[in-house]
Parts: sequence; structure tokens; C-alpha cells
Amino acid sequence: MTEKDFVLNAELELPKQGSYKWKAPSNIALIKYWGKKPNQIPANPSISFTLDACATTTTLTFKKLDKKAQDYSFDLYFEGKKHDDFKPKIYSFFKRIECYLPFLRDYHFTIHTSNSFPHSSGIASSASGMAALSLGLMSIEREVNPKITIEYFLQKASFLARLGSGSASRSIEGELIQWGRHNDITESSDLYGLTYPYKVHSVFKSYHDTILLVHKGQKTVSSTVGHDLMHGHPFATARFEQAHENLTGLQDILAKGDLKGFIKIVESEALTLHSMMMASLPYYILMKPNTLAIIEKIWAFRETTGSHVCFTLDAGANVHVLYPEKEKEIVIQFIQDELVAYCESGHYICDRIGKGAKQLKV
Ligand code: DP6
Repeated sequence: MTEKDFVLNAELELPKQGSYKWKAPSNIALIKYWGKKPNQIPANPSISFTLDACATTTTLTFKKLDKKAQDYSFDLYFEGKKHDDFKPKIYSFFKRIECYLPFLRDYHFTIHTSNSFPHSSGIASSASGMAALSLGLMSIEREVNPKITIEYFLQKASFLARLGSGSASRSIEGELIQWGRHNDITESSDLYGLTYPYKVHSVFKSYHDTILLVHKGQKTVSSTVGHDLMHGHPFATARFEQAHENLTGLQDILAKGDLKGFIKIVESEALTLHSMMMASLPYYILMKPNTLAIIEKIWAFRETTGSHVCFTLDAGANVHVLYPEKEKEIVIQFIQDELVAYCESGHYICDRIGKGAKQLKV
């Protein structure tokens, strides 16, 4: 598929009004997307676990205008309250996707959105938020053009979501999603996410992710700025190559259920992501002392118990604690006994691998 395949024929008849509601999950990258080219093209391929509990629910209501407007017309409500400060993000998203959805200026949209996780938890809602909105827009496209297949529907939703936020391309389907071109995977694309096409051992289909909320405040440097700092970064080329190699390495690990191999790649990816930030110019650190304390505790626990618990990080201070279903009891006990003390107000969120977005009744 190329960009051209995602352009909707503007001649088709448009529905007058309607409403669609979608719940889209967050995701946690195992191999990280860090660095991008123009038009939200990733500098390297990434792969993530789709989550289940952490999600955004968005109701998109649309009403046809008498004539096409000069500009986009929409109101945005977050958790029931009008939120004009989120509007610029949606505005620039609409601008990026209008060539693929030419009906955007034919409607007034009312967008009601809410997250299952607390707003100021340090958990980014851009992936789940952009995914839920893109699915709502695709539901309108399906009314206009009912002939599209479910595969096309989901692929274009991922394609649109990517243009809102790169990692959002991985928040449409489950359970393991790869985004970005990689030589070993013929179907892989820089334009949209793909359900990982190779064998995945059952141990990875019921993995848990407990998110330890180390720092709930706004982060000092956004991901978008961080990606940009990979331009001219002294270690960029080596890092992008490493992501390709790690994805190749993960293939066998995922197929065989090799937990030790999994830990090695996943933790290395997390620390490499943060070392890229520390080696950027200007340099910065998003981890907090408690992030490091938790990592050390996890390593010590693994050493003494032989557990397969491991961690990953996104672009922030929170720690994602990953573990297989059969270690659920001991790891939860460990978190309560030894890690909760490092969480802001003792807060953490229990999540697990999920199956992707769902359409809900309005
Ligand atoms: C560290 O998708 O948030 O979480 O495309 O600029 O919106 P934009 O960035 P974003 O970057 C996510 C970075 C990451 C790694 C990952 O999810 O792969």
C-alpha cells in the first residue's frame, strides 16, 4: 500500500449526521520508535504490546454543514468539559489528514473524549487518543464508502493515527504490533502498523504490564522534541541499526518463548532510549531517582528469585513492569512490598496485553 491508496474519492455522497464511539488502547513499545523523518515516517521500526486497561474513549458526532467551511469546525470536550487547549493538536492533525479524508470541512464535529487512566499520571494519551479519533473518522468513511474491507478500515485507521502521533499507529489492533519497514517482514510498512505476522509463543499472549507512576507531572521535554533531537545526533545511525537488529533478534525469542532473551532486548531498548536523550544536544534526563531505584530492585529480585520480571520505560519517569501470567502472584507481591514506596502517592496501574480497539454503542 502507498499513500495514494488511502485517498478517499471526493465524489462520493456524504451522510448528513451521525455519531460513532470508539475505545482505543494505549501501547507499550518493546523496541522503541525514537527519531523520525518528515510526514511521521519512523527512522527505525518498532514493536509494541497493545495494552488493555489504559485506553481512550472518544465519541465523534458529526453534522453536515450547508456548504464546505473555510476552516475545520469542531468542539472538543475532555472528560465532559470543553478543552480548547487540546484544539491545536486536533487542528494540525486534521490538516495532515485532509488529503486522505476530503470531507473534514463538510462537517461540524463534536468530540467527547476521556481516558481510563488519570489525566496527570504521566501516561501519554496521544497514542490511544489519536487512534480512537481516527477510528471514528474511518467509521464516517465506511458510511461514505461501504465497500471497504475490514483490513482496509483498520490499516487506514492506523495510517491516519500515525499522522497524529507515530506510536498511535500501533494502538488500533492487538496484541503485538510492528510499525516501520524491516527487511525480514515483507508486509511491514512505515505508513501503518501491522499485526506481528510471525509465530508468537503463548507466554507472550498473556503478559502483564504494571505501570508504576513515579512522576505524574508534565514531562520537561515532549516526545516530539526528543524525536527531533535525533537529527544530527552523534549515535543516531548506530541506534537505528540496533533497532533493526533487535527486531531480527526478537523473532526467535517470540517464537520460542525465550524469556531471558526477551528481558535482554527489552531492558536494553529502554535504557538505550534514555541514553539517546542524555546524549542529545541539548541533553536532558526524564528518569527520576525513583526510576533507577525501581530498576535496581527489579534486578535484585530477579537475581534472588529467578523470576522473569523485567522493565521498560517510555519517554518519561514511569516504569512499566512486565511479567508472564504464571508469575503474577509473586510479582504483584513484590511490587506491593518493595516498589510501591517509590510511586507518587503509592499509585500504580495493573494492565496486561490487549486485543485492540473496540467500537461501542453511542
Ligand atoms: C518513547 O508517538 O509520542 O514512546 O510521533 O511525535 O507523537 P510523536 O511521538 P510519540 O513517540 C513515542 C516514543 C516512545 C517510543 C514508542 O512508543 O515507540
